[in-house]
Amino acid sequence: PEAVPGFPAPTEHTQKAFDPEDDFTAKWTRADARQLKAMSDPAAPSRENSLPEEYTMPTVPQDFPDMSNEEVWVWDSWTLTDGTSAQPSFKGWEVVFSLVADRKLGFDDRHTYAKLGYFFRKADVAERPADGGWTYGGLVFPDGASGAIFDDQSFSHQTEWSGSTRIFDGNKLRIFYTAVAFYRNEDGSNRKPYDPRIVQSEGRLFADENGVWMTGFRDQHDMLQADGEYYQTGAQNEFFNFRDPFTFEDPAHPGKTYMVFEGNSAFARGERACTEDDMGYAPGDPFAETADQAMDQGAHFQMANVGLAVAENAASTEWRFLPPILSANCVNDQTERPQIYIKDGKYYLFTITHRGTYAAGIDGPEGVYGFVGDGIRSDFQPVNRGSGLALGSPSNLNFPVGTPFAPHPDQHPGQFQAYSHYVMPDGLVQSFIDTIGTSDDFVRGGTLAPTVRVDIAGDAVTVDRSYGTNGLGGWADIPAGYAHDIDAAA
Ligand code: FRU
Repeated sequence: PEAVPGFPAPTEHTQKAFDPEDDFTAKWTRADARQLKAMSDPAAPSRENSLPEEYTMPTVPQDFPDMSNEEVWVWDSWTLTDGTSAQPSFKGWEVVFSLVADRKLGFDDRHTYAKLGYFFRKADVAERPADGGWTYGGLVFPDGASGAIFDDQSFSHQTEWSGSTRIFDGNKLRIFYTAVAFYRNEDGSNRKPYDPRIVQSEGRLFADENGVWMTGFRDQHDMLQADGEYYQTGAQNEFFNFRDPFTFEDPAHPGKTYMVFEGNSAFARGERACTEDDMGYAPGDPFAETADQAMDQGAHFQMANVGLAVAENAASTEWRFLPPILSANCVNDQTERPQIYIKDGKYYLFTITHRGTYAAGIDGPEGVYGFVGDGIRSDFQPVNRGSGLALGSPSNLNFPVGTPFAPHPDQHPGQFQAYSHYVMPDGLVQSFIDTIGTSDDFVRGGTLAPTVRVDIAGDAVTVDRSYGTNGLGGWADIPAGYAHDIDAAA
């Protein structure tokens, strides 16, 4: 893409595939990410969206129904997937897994109390109730199972964070998720760094005409801990990120199972580790900055990456780290819930991030970001004008971000309307509601947003405003529908 007047040109990326085992990490550069500001309208007034409509999630109304009948807070969610990331139903039921927490907690306290819960509803129903028609099935794991893996049982909090669920052999489930132990003092500071681990647990799924249930999940396989070589550890940075496993099979490498996950580049916190390649400017670009200039602003405290690992056994209990497939050094600190999405022979890496985790000098909305290449390890091209933004919440980059619990008075009421976008077959995107409204009138979410749809073609991802009503589909609508029903008896 051409440079926007007043802004640098984005970096050239070939999309060329490398072997998954190769030591090549694609860079989401500062030159790329500065395209976000380049596409933002500097004249957008208070409370209006400054970003292009075609990359913006339609505005979600404040009067949303709650999918859990007020039983639990709900946020990050995912479906059953098979090896191709299709979403089968099971004996005529759709099943979703969600992080849930007690509604007696404040919504912002949820992270240290999260547990994996599940919901089900009948597949192939033409007219759904407004809340999506889900039944809350309860927690997935037996009490205490996910905490048992920690040698140091003196944790202050122990919690279950995101992942993904694969279905095999009729009704066998493998849940890949993040087991986390916190070791905090009364005042919230760390007695020692928190300990996130990528874990797998196997169970069985059952259904009859009344609903769905699960058994098993007693054995928890502690599989991966950050290694300090490719993936930053707690010793390197007590605020490190290591979580959110998503497994898939790559048609180009049959017989192998891969995993992508959220990580950070393995440097000690504060190390001035960004390079000119992380900047990504073309020689002579008048709007270029040097790595030192970016780091003088503190940009090197934001060092996200997307990790890759390969399963070493058929049971997917043993894994080997490979070098990260993407880094965002001096760009952003969190590339969360990554997933690989294959369409028309192209590999899309989708990952979510926050406005508040961008590095100094870079700005962009909450939302899902996309990178396209010819394989799972590629010189990924950030989608949409080289920026990476696939679908953002309506935001005004001319005004400060605020927070979900204290929205900024000049922000668009939708800036925190949705997060944790997960891209499903046919471009459907589900997400959860965080906060809707402005400083004087806002409501907290804790349930799933309306499903929206994006068109994905080449390096363009655009909102389908003909989907649902002005682009908004059903609340908490996570249809199987695009795959097949698995009948365990068959
Ligand atoms: C995204 C996220 C995930 C994490 C979970 C914890 O919303 O930050 O990365 O697994 O929430 O609540």
